[in-house]
Amino acid sequence: MKNKSLVSISDYSKEEILSILESAAGFEAQPNRKILDGKVIATLFFEPSTRTRLSFETAVIRLGGSVIGFSDAATSSSSKGETLNDTIRMVSSYADAIVMRHPLEGAARYAAEVSPVPIINAGDGANQHPSQTLLDLYSILKTQGTLEHLNICLVGDLKYGRTVHSLIMAMSHFHPTFKFIAPDELKMPDEYKIFCRKHDIPFTEATELHDNFNDADILYMTRVQRERFQDLMEYERVKNVYTLKNEMLESSKPHLKILHPLPRVNEIAPDVDGNEKAYYFRQAQNGLYIRQAIINNVLNN
Ligand code: CP
Repeated sequence: MKNKSLVSISDYSKEEILSILESAAGFEAQPNRKILDGKVIATLFFEPSTRTRLSFETAVIRLGGSVIGFSDAATSSSSKGETLNDTIRMVSSYADAIVMRHPLEGAARYAAEVSPVPIINAGDGANQHPSQTLLDLYSILKTQGTLEHLNICLVGDLKYGRTVHSLIMAMSHFHPTFKFIAPDELKMPDEYKIFCRKHDIPFTEATELHDNFNDADILYMTRVQRERFQDLMEYERVKNVYTLKNEMLESSKPHLKILHPLPRVNEIAPDVDGNEKAYYFRQAQNGLYIRQAIINNVLNN
């Protein structure tokens, strides 16, 4: 790559991941620092977002930089037929780095190849969401005190959920044991199971949620990704497959933490929100500090 882009979590070594987490802790302690004075960051969101876009933009503003961009592709010239290549060429002549979410898998890699400024992948189709993965790792480290030898239960849409795909790759540095809980239609794709076998990561698969996470340190719930289904009848069949309720947590480990990349739909009942094991809103807040660390890293390396 020509620049210090973050396209896939596999672009970062274990040492770089740990360095980002350490840097994020510094930004959490002191989030308002004017280290981006005079810098412009573009946020190009070809798909909807609340957390990722707003936390990236907040990260830039709190560091003294400025933000340009769009949150709806319909308001950009891509709606007139402009190619991604031309959009990136233009925006890279205005901005020092580009944060991009795009529905096509591989769009971020393509953008990084044609851009002279760093590209930060804010999600490309069902492929990767590396800044989410780094904030997930930060949340796991903060709540468990370690990333090593944890039992992690991934639940829901494991087929289309890009956050679980990135998380498996990142955790491969830290000797995890995984349990994949999904209906048959949304099972973990073979390529990630092959990845686990290649990296000696034990995993089991299940279709039932109840009583299947009692040995977990992390219960990672995910939304069924309606926007990725070709057949909406199939979505209707699986959309409410799992709902975590407070009563289901009684036999779970005392230090269990429930993560969810959000937004949630029906996968976590509101009565779980008050449980001390619920961590998903603080997880989203951690995204601000991680994104400050990522921007600082891509601009200063
Ligand atoms: N977790 C996540 O990517 O949330 P948004 O879609 O709201 O950005």
